[in-house]
Amino acid sequence: MQLALTRRHRLRPGETVLVLGAGGAIGRAAVDVASALGGRVIAAGSSRGRIEWAADRAGVDLLDLSASGLADGVRDLAPGGIDVVVDPVGGPLASEALKSLAPFGTHLVLGFASGDIPRFGANRVLIANKTVVGVDLGHALGHDPTLAERLMSEVLEAVSAGRYRPCEPAECELEDVPGVLADIERGSRSGQVVATIRGSTG
Ligand SMILES: NC(=O)c1ccc[n+]([C@@H]2O[C@H](COP(=O)([O-])OP(=O)(O)OC[C@H]3O[C@@H](n4cnc5c(N)ncnc54)[C@H](OP(=O)(O)O)[C@@H]3O)[C@@H](O)[C@H]2O)c1
Repeated sequence: MQLALTRRHRLRPGETVLVLGAGGAIGRAAVDVASALGGRVIAAGSSRGRIEWAADRAGVDLLDLSASGLADGVRDLAPGGIDVVVDPVGGPLASEALKSLAPFGTHLVLGFASGDIPRFGANRVLIANKTVVGVDLGHALGHDPTLAERLMSEVLEAVSAGRYRPCEPAECELEDVPGVLADIERGSRSGQVVATIRGSTG
């Protein structure tokens, strides 16, 4: 997310940031970093339970997409439109989010968790000077081998200073992994999970 919000787009304090898939790993990082950089963040997720974790973050509003559509929710929370969309989801949600961008707004494409690669009409980008920007960390690191160290040291510095507050992963035993994976598949579990492999004592 450091690449997305400090390089591919340079987020300025006060900009309005819509984060799609805010219950997922990329979405959580986006909410955390955007909030720390002074953005006014709308954390959008498929249910209240998946985005509740962000309720106490500075400058963050929650948008529960099971209770209101994206366009209506954005209109209520950001009547002036969105300056930046962080999009790891794709699909119809991405197309709706692009429409919600304010003039000169930027749509950051990070992934397609919905399984659907959206097709954006060039007219949607032309009208009101919008920008669609790809963010591919793997490619960027291959292109500039020194980038990983710089991004990581910025992130670690922000975490140790308390500006970034990444969500702690839950822990589970290795034998519980199938159940955890089933929960993730059902959408009943969000956030990251670390499986602990205990050494033999015998
Ligand atoms: N560009 C890059 O450099 C980069 C780096 C890492 C990952 N990625 C990509 O980013 C995407 C998201 O990764 P992630 O680690 O954040 O995944 P994740 O933890 O599984 O989260 C994905 C989120 O997408 C939303 N979603 C909407 N429709 C969905 C569907 N049909 N199935 C599953 N999720 C759906 C969910 O949001 P709700 O919480 O609202 O339900 C979910 O929390 C993936 O495509 C991944 O490959 C890109």
